[in-house]
Amino acid sequence: MARHTHAAIDLDALTHNFMAMSECSPNSKQVVVVKADAYGNGAVAVALCLQNHADMFAVAFIDEVFELRAAGITQPILVLQGPHQEQECELTNTLNVVWMLHAEQQLNWINKRIKNKEINNLHHWVKFDTGMHRLGFMLEDYERLSEDYAHIFHAETVVATHLARADEPNNKASLTAIEQFLNVMVGRHNCLSIANSAANICLPASAKTWNRMGISLYGSSPFENDEVLVSLQTVMSLNSEVIAIRHIPAGESVGYGATWTAQQPSTIATVAIGYADGYPRHAPIGTPALIDGHVAKLVGRVSMDMLTFDVTDIDNVDIGSPVELWGRNLPINQVAKHIGTIGYELMTRVSKRVPRKLV
Ligand SMILES: Cc1ncc(COP(=O)(O)O)c(C=O)c1O
Repeated sequence: MARHTHAAIDLDALTHNFMAMSECSPNSKQVVVVKADAYGNGAVAVALCLQNHADMFAVAFIDEVFELRAAGITQPILVLQGPHQEQECELTNTLNVVWMLHAEQQLNWINKRIKNKEINNLHHWVKFDTGMHRLGFMLEDYERLSEDYAHIFHAETVVATHLARADEPNNKASLTAIEQFLNVMVGRHNCLSIANSAANICLPASAKTWNRMGISLYGSSPFENDEVLVSLQTVMSLNSEVIAIRHIPAGESVGYGATWTAQQPSTIATVAIGYADGYPRHAPIGTPALIDGHVAKLVGRVSMDMLTFDVTDIDNVDIGSPVELWGRNLPINQVAKHIGTIGYELMTRVSKRVPRKLV
C-alpha cells in the first residue's frame, strides 16, 4: 500500500478544453502539445484521450516520441526543436515525425536526405523568429534560405512562429509580429502556424492553418491575471492527505531551520508531499492549500517528503483529512503566484513518484 498522494487527471475536462479551444478557431487544425509528459499530466494518457480529435501531437525533442509510438499513437508528431543530431533524421519515416526546423544545420541535414530520396519533402515545418529571439530564422533571411533550400521551401511547407507576448492580451507587439510574419509568408506558403493557447483565445489574427495548444488543454489560463475568455476545466488536481497532527504552544517553531514560530497555541497538520514530489522548496510561508475543503497556510520549510500547514482555525482536521495542493477547487495559478512562478512550471514539475490517477 502506498501513501494517498496522487495527481488526479480529469480526462473529461481535457476533452472539454480541447473542444472549447477548437471553437475559438474552427477553421484551424489543432496540434496538441504533449511535451514534458503533457505538462506533467501524462503524455500517453493525454494522447490516447485526444487521438480521435487532435490532428497532430507535438513534443520538444525526439526522445519524447518513443513512448507515444510504443503506446500506439499513430498521428504525426511534430518535434518542436527539430533534430538535435543528424542521425535523428533517419527516424523521420519510421517514427512518422515532422520536424520544426529552426537552424541552418538542420536544413542541410534534411535537404540532403530529400535529395537522396530517403525522405519526402512534404511534411516539414520551418520556424521563424518574430521577436522571441530564441529559435528560428530571421524573416529577412527568407529569400536566401528559400533559394538555397528549395527542396524544403515549397508552398505546402508549414512556416511557423511562436509569439513572445501572446499572454499579454492588450500588448500590440503580438499584432506587429503577426503582421511582419504574414507580410513575408502570405502568397508563398499555404500553411502557416502562429497560435499557442493564449493567442488562440485573444488574437484572432493568429488563427491560421495550424494552432499549437498546450496549457489551455490542461485547464490552466495562459494569462498572467487569469483572464479566461473560454470556459476551461481543471485537468490536474494534486492531492494528498494529513499524516500527523501537532498541537504546539505559542513560541514553538516548525520545520527545518525554525523559519516559522507560532504566535498562539497552534495546530499543525503534516501533509505527505514535498519537494521530491515537485512541490517547490521555495514555496513561502502562507502558500495556500485546501485541507478538508478549507484554505490553510503553509508554515515552515518545505521538506523532501512533507509539508506543514497551520490548521488552528479549521475544525476537525485529523490524520487522513484530504488535502488539495492545487486543482479543481484551488486554481494552480493562484498557488503559483504565491510561489513566484506560473502554473506551467508547477504542473510540469510534479515528479514521477506521484502516481497519476485517471478520472
Ligand atoms: C513552439 C511552441 N508552440 C506552442 C506551445 C504551446 O504553448 P501553450 O502551452 O502556451 O499553449 C509551446 C509551449 O511552450 C511551444 O514551445
